[in-house]
Amino acid sequence: MSSPQTAAITAVHGWLPEDILSNADLEKMVDTNDEWIRTRTGISERRILKDPEKATSDMACEVIKGLCTQRGITPEEVDLVIVATVTPDMFFPSTAQLACHKAGASNAWGFDLSAACSGFLFALRTGSQFVASGTHSKVIVVGADKMSSIVDYTDRTTCVLFGDAASGVLLEADASGATGIQDAILRSDGAGGQYLRMQGGGSLNPSSHETVDNKLHYIEQDGRPVFKAAVTSMADVSYEIMERNGLTADDVSWLVPHQANLRIIDATANRMGVGRDKVMINIEKYGNTTAATIPLCLWEWRNRLTPGENLILSAFGGGFTWGSIWLKWAMEPEA
Ligand code: ACO
Repeated sequence: MSSPQTAAITAVHGWLPEDILSNADLEKMVDTNDEWIRTRTGISERRILKDPEKATSDMACEVIKGLCTQRGITPEEVDLVIVATVTPDMFFPSTAQLACHKAGASNAWGFDLSAACSGFLFALRTGSQFVASGTHSKVIVVGADKMSSIVDYTDRTTCVLFGDAASGVLLEADASGATGIQDAILRSDGAGGQYLRMQGGGSLNPSSHETVDNKLHYIEQDGRPVFKAAVTSMADVSYEIMERNGLTADDVSWLVPHQANLRIIDATANRMGVGRDKVMINIEKYGNTTAATIPLCLWEWRNRLTPGENLILSAFGGGFTWGSIWLKWAMEPEA
């Protein structure tokens, strides 16, 4: 009996705004300091999309175009685009539709997926089903967030954490099942929603002078319970996916963690028994870019990866949402 067909990553691309917001810049805006930010989070700087005319769909569009160029296909050949985001351009039309239109992906259908910092993993799992089942041949999964549009730059407890970016992957079938997504564990618990959310503008609190006066259009986070839940849940689920697939730390080439906090990343790596040298970390340069962090790591590390390597992707985010995905890398490094 042949192995079931899997969805393999056949292109990876990232896009970052040019403007840098450093810890020194933040010191001038709120009562904080470089040392506190670096020791508590691991972040030194983040990128900000300053152009007021540009939104999440513009960043996602660049990713779609970059993926097609890398794979040598036209945007018209793409069947489906899923955009994981908590900062859509607007409620509707979806950011996926806007990005497809801008990129010329005129034959693709698409939708947005909301799972905060776990958004890319939820979307990757979803997109991979369409490929593995054989109903779609070219599926793009993008994580894109313009976090600066919902961050209160007078709130020192959140404004130091987030940055803007987009990144994504193209999924195509591997009929042999030898590479691509092998297993996924995804979880959520709405009881954690109260600790990390943006309350304004939805059907519960439609935008009004009052919601704006009360700053409900910004992220609010109670950092400690989020931190506690993240440390345990991300580590547990990363260990669980190894255990149920009989993978040892030696079998794992790379841990690709969501980049929210260096201490959460270290706790996950420790639980898995994986050393820092096998963990993708770029939080120092970009901060927490929500749905974009994991594909951004894959993009930055792409030329250090070889086909067949085992990667464990792992995330925790608002919702609460969390999960891990085991995949076997499929791409050769660029020459
Ligand atoms: N600069 C200086 N001091 C600060 C700052 C700052 N930027 N922010 C908070 N402080 C102060 C606090 O006021 C507090 O002072 P107090 O003791 O006098 O009250 C002190 O520093 C300690 O605050 P804590 O909140 O306990 O600090 P903690 O060590 O927990 O670090 C952090 C805060 C970094 C936010 C941490 O809790 C964390 O990483 N939480 C998880 C974030 C996360 O993973 N989010 C999920 C993903 S996001 C998403 O899904 C969209």
